[in-house]
Formats: sequence, structure tokens, C-alpha cells
Amino acid sequence: APITVKKICCIGAGYVGGPTCAVIPNVTVTIVDLNQQRIDAWNSDELPIYEPGLDAVVKGARGKNLFFSTDVDKAIEEADLIFVSVNTPTKKSGIGAGFAADLKFLQLATRRIAEVAKSSKIVVEKSTVPCRTADAMRTILEANSKPGCHFDILSNPEFLAEGTAIDDLHAPDRVLIGSLQTKQGLDACEALANVYANWVPRERILTVGLWSSELSKLAANAMLAQRISSVNALSAICEATGANIDEVAFAVGKDTRMGAKFLKASVGFGGSCFQKDILNLVYLSESLHLPEVAKYWRAVVEMNEYQKSRFANKVVDTLFNTITGKKIAILGWAFKKDTGDTRESPAITLANHFLTEKARINIYDPQVSADQIWLDLTDYGDVPAEPIKPHVTISQSVEEACHNAEAIVICTEWDEFKTLDWQKIYDNCPRPAFVFDGRLILDRKALTEIGFKVTSIGTGD
Ligand code: NAD
Ligand code: UGA
Repeated sequence: APITVKKICCIGAGYVGGPTCAVIPNVTVTIVDLNQQRIDAWNSDELPIYEPGLDAVVKGARGKNLFFSTDVDKAIEEADLIFVSVNTPTKKSGIGAGFAADLKFLQLATRRIAEVAKSSKIVVEKSTVPCRTADAMRTILEANSKPGCHFDILSNPEFLAEGTAIDDLHAPDRVLIGSLQTKQGLDACEALANVYANWVPRERILTVGLWSSELSKLAANAMLAQRISSVNALSAICEATGANIDEVAFAVGKDTRMGAKFLKASVGFGGSCFQKDILNLVYLSESLHLPEVAKYWRAVVEMNEYQKSRFANKVVDTLFNTITGKKIAILGWAFKKDTGDTRESPAITLANHFLTEKARINIYDPQVSADQIWLDLTDYGDVPAEPIKPHVTISQSVEEACHNAEAIVICTEWDEFKTLDWQKIYDNCPRPAFVFDGRLILDRKALTEIGFKVTSIGTGD
């Protein structure tokens, strides 16, 4: 019979581990991480990540059924079920560099579980991984385990989006659980399904085979990103023809087979996962000797790169082919609104482009710290800061960032940018005053009436 899960351990207290486990009711959950600073932050008033609604959820459960700790071994020992929610970045060197997922963190965590566990455990792959990773995990677990300890491995990928994580977790479209179709595998699957059934309707808890579950996660991200690249490819056609991408996307999205969501043209998608997971799928396809399939998915990432550089070039072109010495305000640094996360943010690509052209950039974001912006600009220390320092200012307000700017570039769709006092901003800009709307959030007509020269993505006029 399926066991009743009483204690959960989650390895990895990041953007996924923290929120996903914080919403679990009725079970004791300990979230562990090797990073002491991160755990201290989870235990403080200033949580390590900004996510609407997260504070209330964490503060409501912390110390009751939710605990954060760096004592990884103790949490493993005590748990019946262990989520592995560590990072799986793109490999930077060695075989598959630039494409394959780096599974070293996942494997270290798996090995730790095997070494520490004194009783049987359900081990759940929560991280996004290549198809058949559970096989490798099983081999590691079985090779290192103590006699009498049995491990069941489940795949339970996470579909939350940052900025809406808490809503996504409270009312998910679906929860996906993959298991071996053996008696033991199905029992483990049922045990995890029962945890989710505390708040998720049964019909939304989907149970499938292990490999389908693993692949579904890569598939979902690849198809979501593909929609953005499709709409961005069309935005280039709009600019060349006078069609309007918002109108085209609206018309297309009305088809119920297509749906209206996720069709917003932009300066390009960012975030820690889309590019990483597609490259992972590309690598998987190539390893399976499916070069045409690999090429197909790779194009989604290539289109995204094209969109970012196309937009950057447009800024330079519009400013009469040079931005050398000009002040450019960058509004928004996070990869999307309502998060402080900057991983793969298109703003970074744009800033680097402007710096290469020797512009002076002034950055404002309501949630990202100056320290983080510097980490991004120096690629975490790989690029020296000194040469760019005279060209970069980080502002505490939009007004300050835009003061005297020859161009204002919207990189993130923060709501506050929609309701700025644009007249006041205009009064403090040299003429002609240019605005580039990389997110299609501004009232183009109103800004034009004030006197701005507005360039948006996907409009030809
Ligand atoms: P993250 O970098 O924010 O968090 C991962 C954490 O794991 C880090 O704090 C790190 O210190 C910790 N860690 C690494 N190795 C460890 C070990 N051996 N023992 C203990 N702790 C260890 O990453 P994230 O954004 O939470 O992503 C985690 C996984 O979830 C990735 O595979 C990602 O693809 C996937 N995912 C992310 C999102 C998202 O919105 N960020 C959504 C769905 C899926
Ligand atoms: C995405 C998926 O939406 C989640 O389902 C998935 O769990 C997650 O990746 C993951 O695996 O990490 P996330 O990256 O947090 O979530 O945020 P999204 O809302 O998907 O946005 C990704 C990027 O695409 C952002 O830069 C966003 O601005 C951009 N985007 C999104 C567009 O340009 N247009 C759109 O219509 C939608």
C-alpha cells in the first residue's frame, strides 16, 4: 500500500524549492541548502527572492510545518520523501558545453541521499532534467545505499512561472508525476499524489511514465518559448509592412485552438529556463541522432537572439547611427515583471550592446539591487568592471534614470512604467526625445502627443 508521507525534505532552497515547498499543508517540510546565506535569508524577514504573496505564505508556515536549514543530512534522514530541487544549469565546459545540462549538483545531492539514508525513501526529481535522468539517479542510489534501504524515484517537474509562482502553486493547471509502472513505482506515485491532493483537485494530478514526465517538462518550455519566438518573428514582418503585432496576436489568439495567452511580442524572452531547457532538448536530439529535430528547436533560441540584437540595432539606427557618449536610460533589469530575478534577462544583452557602442547607460529597476546589476554586467566577475564603470549609473528612480537621457528603453514590463508622469520626463530630456518600448506597454499615442518619438516592437508606423 502507498505510504503516508509525514516528513518531506527538499534539497535546494532556490526559486523552485522555496515556494513549491512553502505551500504544502499538513506535512512537515524541511528545505535545506548548502548556501548558508540563502538559508539565513529564508529564516529572516528579508526572504532571498521577491515573489508576490510569498512573504505571507512563508511567514504563515515557518516554524510550524516549514523549516529552513543547512543540516542536509539530518533532513534527509528524517524524511520519507525527498524533493531534489537543485540547479541544473547549461554546462560551461567539457562534452556538451553550451548545450547539455550540468547535472553535477543533482548527482551530488543524489549521492548524499544514498550515503545518509538509513531507511527507504521516495526520491523526487523536481529539477528540470534531460529525459532518462532518473535512470542515472537510480544507479547512483542503488550503488551507494545501505542494506535494506530501498529508493523509489519519481519525476515531478515544476511548471510555476516567476512573478506568479504562488498563484500557480495554489491553483496549478496540472501536477505531473512520472513513475515506473511497477507496483512499487505506482505506490510511490500515489504517496506523492496524496500530498498534492491536500489542495489540488484529483483530476488535475496527472500520472504518467517516468520518461514521459521528464520529457513533458522540456516539451512544455520549448513549446512556450516557441510561441514567443513565433510572435517575435512576426513582429519583424509587422515592422516592415505596417501591420501591428498586438492586433495580429489578438486575431490569431482568438482561435480557441491557439488561445490568447503567451503571444506578447517582446524584446526577447529571458529567465533561467527557456534557453537552458531548449538547448538541453537540442543536445538530447543530437545525442539521439536526430539532427533535423535539433535544428528545429535550436531555431527558437536563434530567433530570440535575433530579436534582442534587432532591437538593440534599432536603437542605434534611430539615434542617427551612433550612440557614442549618449545617455541611454534602461527601465527594467529583471527578465519579467514582479520578480527580482535577472537570469538571462534581455536587459543584460541590450546593456552590453549599448556599452560596446560606448554609450552611457543609466539603469533603473524597482526590485533588482545595484550589486546584482554589477554581477550581471561583469558576468559574475569574468568581465572587468573598471573599464565600464564610467559608463554605467544605477538609479533609484525612473526620473533620475531618465534625466537628460537621449533615449529611454523599456526592457521589463513593470506596471509602474505605464503610469509614469511622461510629461515631466519629457521636460527633462533633450530633443528629439526617443522612447523605445521593448514590451509594448506604453500608450504610444499619448507619448507621441507629448512630443516623444516612440519606437515599439512590431509596429510599422
Ligand atoms: P536556484 O539556483 O535558485 O536554486 C537551487 C539551489 O540548490 C541553490 O540555492 C543551491 O545552493 C542549491 N544546491 C545545489 N546543489 C546542492 C546540494 N548538493 N545540496 C543542497 N543544496 C544544493 O535554482 P531554481 O531556479 O530554483 O531551479 C531549480 C531547478 O528547477 C532547475 O532545474 C530549474 O530548471 C527548475 N525550474 C525552475 C523554475 C524557475 O522558475 N526558476 C521553474 C521550473 C523549474
Ligand atoms: C517559464 C514557464 O512559463 C514556466 O511554466 C516554467 O515552469 C518556467 O519557465 C521554468 O521552467 O523555469 P518563467 O521563465 O518564470 O516561466 O516566466 P515566463 O512568464 O514564462 O516568461 C519567460 C520570458 O518570456 C520572460 O522574459 C517574459 O517576459 C517572456 N515572455 C513571456 C514574452 O516575451 N512574451 C510572452 O507572451 C510571455
